Amino acid sequence: MDILLIGSGGREHALAWKLTQSLHCDELYCAPGNAGIADVAACVSLDIMDNGAVVDFCREKEIDFVVVGPEQPLVNGLVDALDAAGIPAFGPTQAAAQLEGSKAFTKELCAQYDIPTAAFARFNNAPKAKMHVRQQMSVGGAPIVIKADGLAAGKGVVVAHSVEEACEAVDACFEGAFGEAGAEVVVEEFLEGEEASLFAICDGQTAMLFGTAQDHKRVGEGDTGPNTGGMGAYSPAPVLTQELIDEVMTEIIVPTLAGMHARGHPFRGVLYAGLMLTAEGPSLIEYNTRFGDPECQVLMPRLKSDLVELMLASAQGSLLELPEAEWDTRTALTVVIASRGYPGSYEKNTVIAGVEDAEKAGALVFHAGTSHKDGKLLATGGRVLNVTGFGGSVGEAQKAAYDGVAKIRWENGFTRSDIGWRAIEREKAGG
Ligand code: AMP
Ligand code: GLY
Repeated sequence: MDILLIGSGGREHALAWKLTQSLHCDELYCAPGNAGIADVAACVSLDIMDNGAVVDFCREKEIDFVVVGPEQPLVNGLVDALDAAGIPAFGPTQAAAQLEGSKAFTKELCAQYDIPTAAFARFNNAPKAKMHVRQQMSVGGAPIVIKADGLAAGKGVVVAHSVEEACEAVDACFEGAFGEAGAEVVVEEFLEGEEASLFAICDGQTAMLFGTAQDHKRVGEGDTGPNTGGMGAYSPAPVLTQELIDEVMTEIIVPTLAGMHARGHPFRGVLYAGLMLTAEGPSLIEYNTRFGDPECQVLMPRLKSDLVELMLASAQGSLLELPEAEWDTRTALTVVIASRGYPGSYEKNTVIAGVEDAEKAGALVFHAGTSHKDGKLLATGGRVLNVTGFGGSVGEAQKAAYDGVAKIRWENGFTRSDIGWRAIEREKAGG
């Protein structure tokens, strides 16, 4: 099959790397791709938010299957456009992608199907939202969580520690800080616990567990400082024991699929559950309707099964006919190397060397914001490289990843030095 992959991040490099290992993958194209993806796929410059342009390209190249990496084209209805053109694709339709595209939609579904999640209320105007905030905080105290309803690239969430802070966040949403995404606001109860992620590949009716992971969203050591897209991740997440995984599948994932099916929007693609492991059990923080970035950079290296077969079965509704996905039992850990200044502003087009040395040392290097110019590798984005290592424990995988990082020579780059710390502390404590 000739396959088109949509996206340009580290997630898509990991997907491209895995897709080309499939017996079913003939030619792989990637739109728009990056310098690392160009080593394994033919990169094409297409506007991935222009559904018509993507469909035209697929017709011209006789593409047999499309894999969508990021959320924006999903919420923009790319899979619907491909469906209408008779081109099979991996990923949810626009209606099913509401699980990521609208927090209020997901909250209503959880309420209807008794899926554990933080108590919530939704508002389309500031005065009512603030009345609710004051009332809730007078009973439950701080903190409280304020969220813009729509897609806000991870920036639309404020954990407010005072009524003033909460009201400011409400105003910011309605004043357009997140554009359209803030036209509705969700006010949530604050959940306490450790965060972890679970992935399930779904075909509309059936959900198959597709690995667990933990990421580090904050830019600074010890999970401090501003939020980023993710500075590193590891898989599996030891905190998600088999018992907890079973509980999440039964109480959260399966009822979600049933609910989406009943609403006439069967969910196909990968469902990424962001969970809070509270004292009362796992609770859903949010859904994403695509792979995580950088979680994908630790999931793909561990996957032993044929990715194209699984994705095709997801699109065609035949997951039940496949055996459970097989995984390397070792831990994979990835460290993001970002441009100095990220998640704020940063210099572009600085020169990177040593990627091959890191690979020779045994690490996998997935590119995010890179391009080639005059034989040199240039950093063109905030998150630039992902260096993935393997080990028998999170500690060993961390060492392998940082050994790879040490080989890379890039003055304008930085990493966190503590990716995996929570799990490693637990390993050291013997638990
Ligand atoms: P979200 O975009 O919904 O995943 O939220 C981003 C981050 O905000 C999450 O990864 C959590 O760290 C935090 N968060 C969101 N909702 C809650 C909640 N109800 N309780 C505690 N923390 C939350
Ligand atoms: N790493 C978080 C995300 O992909 O949303």
